[in-house]
Amino acid sequence: MSGPLIIGVESSCDETGVGIVRGRQLLANEVASSVEEHVRFGGVVPEVASRAHLEAMVPTLQRACATADIDLTEVDGIAVTAGPGLMGALVVGLASAKALAYALDKPLYAVNHLAGHVAVDLLEHGPLPEGCIALLVSGGHTSLLRVDRITDAITELGSTIDDAAGEAYDKVARVLGLPYPGGPHIDKAATGDRRAVAFPRGLTARKDHDRHRFDFSFSGVKTAVARWVEGRERDGLAIPLPDVAASFQEAVCDVLSAKALDACAATGSRDLLIGGGVAANSRLRALLAERAAELGVALRTPRPALCTDNGAMIAVLGAELAAAGARPSPLDVGADSSLPVSTILC
Ligand code: KG4
Ligand code: ZN
Repeated sequence: MSGPLIIGVESSCDETGVGIVRGRQLLANEVASSVEEHVRFGGVVPEVASRAHLEAMVPTLQRACATADIDLTEVDGIAVTAGPGLMGALVVGLASAKALAYALDKPLYAVNHLAGHVAVDLLEHGPLPEGCIALLVSGGHTSLLRVDRITDAITELGSTIDDAAGEAYDKVARVLGLPYPGGPHIDKAATGDRRAVAFPRGLTARKDHDRHRFDFSFSGVKTAVARWVEGRERDGLAIPLPDVAASFQEAVCDVLSAKALDACAATGSRDLLIGGGVAANSRLRALLAERAAELGVALRTPRPALCTDNGAMIAVLGAELAAAGARPSPLDVGADSSLPVSTILC
């Protein structure tokens, strides 16, 4: 076993995560989710999430230490998500991590959540090839990144200009009467004809190529599904759920996979990594696998538990930074709800 022993704390949205790694070896990954508390609101309520983090933080940390079979005094550093995310939620994790770092007299690494989604793959598939493309798709983000070095060189090629991919799934699920979070329900319901309804593919027109080649837009497809369903209801017709779900899913996954592989082609990258909750989607995985194979691009897909928000992704990013000799963050570092991905360490 080698590499620094790092605790990673994640609290940017509705998951309280504490992970522990030694270098690139995963020792513990404990997650407490407040998703159940948001169900009746149909989306994450920031105040509810913040309070849940406060309640879950210490028990989750204790569970992680027990699973990893370590004592807090052994750790070499504390990594924590500084942003992007919900401000009130971030502050709980950041304050907890600062308290740990101060009490243990260990370095603090306040890091970027999106870089964590990329770094987590090191735990599964080893070092990242240089110039790897990463597609991050979740309820909070949809970004296409070029990763030259996980510790200090990530460039955003594009991102969503409106809804995140998972957000579109969640909103369309609500229109279709499916529970929150809607992604897995739509995935399961999408057994029908993918070509039943031709829903729009945002920002794929020729005119968008120059300015928005690697950007995404999902509000159009979301509205199109709502209008289509309203029209059927107005005409007294039944809603063919398997067909609508499959057609919506195809529109989203077609665009995500096409743009991700276009980014590989444009940058000459032979490696594509995916992360975020929507990376668990069966159709996205199938389309990416098919199209990546055609182009000779290797697909790196962390297991679903590492794709969704967790502390291990923050811990392994902290371990990479510590091993690279990065300067730790000051103890008065602040959370930044819109931290740009180019800022990997605050
Ligand atoms: O990464 P994550 O757990 O949390 C953040 O949003 O950061 O992602 C949650 C999102 C939700 O929008 C959920 O509907 C979506 O990921 N999701 C899926 C699937 N599983 C989760 N979307 C499509 N297909 C899935 N199988
Ligand atoms: Zn995330």
